[in-house]
Amino acid sequence: MPILVRTIALQPGMTLARALRLSHKMLLPADRVLTRSDVTMLTERRPELYVSVHSPELDSVCEFEPDALEIGATQSVCDTASSALHLAQGALEGKSRLREDDLRVAERSIRQIDRFLCHHRIVRVRFHDEIPGIASAADGVKAVHVAMVLGAAVRLQVLAARQRSAKFAGAVNLVPLGLAALLRDCSLWTARRSLDHPGPLTTAERDIVYDHSMRSAALLPDTVDPTIYAAVLHHHENHSGTGYPRGLSRDAIPLFARILRIADAFCAATSETSYHAAKPAWLAAWEMTCGPYAECYDPGIRKIFQAVIQPYPIGSKLRLSCGRYAVVVKHGRVHGLLPEVVIAFDENDKPLATDAIQGPFRLERSPELRVVSFRDTDVTRIYGSEPVYENVHTAVPAEFTHFAESTYP
Ligand SMILES: [Fe+2]
Repeated sequence: MPILVRTIALQPGMTLARALRLSHKMLLPADRVLTRSDVTMLTERRPELYVSVHSPELDSVCEFEPDALEIGATQSVCDTASSALHLAQGALEGKSRLREDDLRVAERSIRQIDRFLCHHRIVRVRFHDEIPGIASAADGVKAVHVAMVLGAAVRLQVLAARQRSAKFAGAVNLVPLGLAALLRDCSLWTARRSLDHPGPLTTAERDIVYDHSMRSAALLPDTVDPTIYAAVLHHHENHSGTGYPRGLSRDAIPLFARILRIADAFCAATSETSYHAAKPAWLAAWEMTCGPYAECYDPGIRKIFQAVIQPYPIGSKLRLSCGRYAVVVKHGRVHGLLPEVVIAFDENDKPLATDAIQGPFRLERSPELRVVSFRDTDVTRIYGSEPVYENVHTAVPAEFTHFAESTYP
C-alpha cells in the first residue's frame, strides 16, 4: 500500500500506487516507475501535490487499510449529486417554486446513490484533497455525500437496534435525506451570486441568510414528502436551541435535520467563499466534535460524524510528539483524528530500518503519542488538550433506538 509523498520529495525509481490525474486528465498511470523527467515535470507543474507511491518496506511489516472503494465511491456519489443539483437548479430558474416533476430526476439520482451506499456499505467519508470528486465539488454536492454516508451509518445503528427489538420493523429510507441535502439551500441558488462578495454582509443580506431555510422549504412542491420539508426547514436548528428559524432543541429537531445540520456545517467550513477561506478538514472536524461548536450538534450524530469523517489519508505522515514521523495505516475507529499509525521515519524524515519500525499504534489508545504536525502544519492546538482523547472514551450512545422510535414509528 502507498505512502503519500510531496512531489518535491519524489525520487526516480519510486512506483506510483495510484494513477495521477489533473483536472480529470490522466497524467501518469498507476504502477508507473517514475523517471527523472517525470519527477522534474511534477516538481515544476505541481510542487504542492501529494502523490501515492508504493512502499515495499512498510508493506512487509504492516497492513494498510484498503481505500480504493471508498475513494471511488466518493467520486461517483459526487458526480451523481452534481448532475442532480445542476438539473434541480435549472428547473427552478425563473419559477416561483419547484414542481413535483422537477424533482423526479433528482430523486432518481439520490435513489441511485442510496442503492450504491447500501450495496457497497460505505461507512466513511475520506475527505482528502487528493480525491478530485470531493475537492472540486460545490458544498451542496459535498453535503449530499456527507449526509448520505452519515445517514447510512445511522441506518446501520437503527437496523442493529431493530434486530434487538421486534417493535422496530421496516427499513430506513435515506432518499428524503439526500433530497433534503440537495435542496436545503434552494432559495440561495440565485441569491448566492449577490451574497458572495468580500466583506461583511449588509443587514438585508443577513436577513436573506437567516430566512433561507424557511424560504427554501416554501419553494418545495406542495406535495413534497413532509420529511423532506421538515429537514429543509430545520437544517440550521442547533441541539442547544440556539439555531434558526424556530430555535428548536434536542429531540424536537427532526432526525434528518440533525444529520443535515452537521453535514452542512462541515461542508460549509471546508469550502472556500469570498468571505472565508476553506478550513482544513482536521480543524473543522475538531471544532465540531471537541471544540467550540460541539454543542450545536446532536451528541449521537456527532459521535457517528467523528468516526465517519476521515481527514488524514491512508499513507499520510503525521509528526508525533516523540519527534518521529508516523504513517497512517488505518482510519480512526472512534475518531477520524485518532487513526492507527506506524512510526516509520526518524526525526529527519528518513526511513527507519525495517526492524526499527514501531507499531501499529491506535492513537485513541495511546494518548502519550500526540500528533504535532500534519503536512507541515502545526496541529498541537487540537491534540495539546484533553478533549479529543476524553471524547473518544465516551461510548457511542444508544439514542438510536429512540431516534428510530420517534422518527420511524
Ligand atoms: Fe442552509
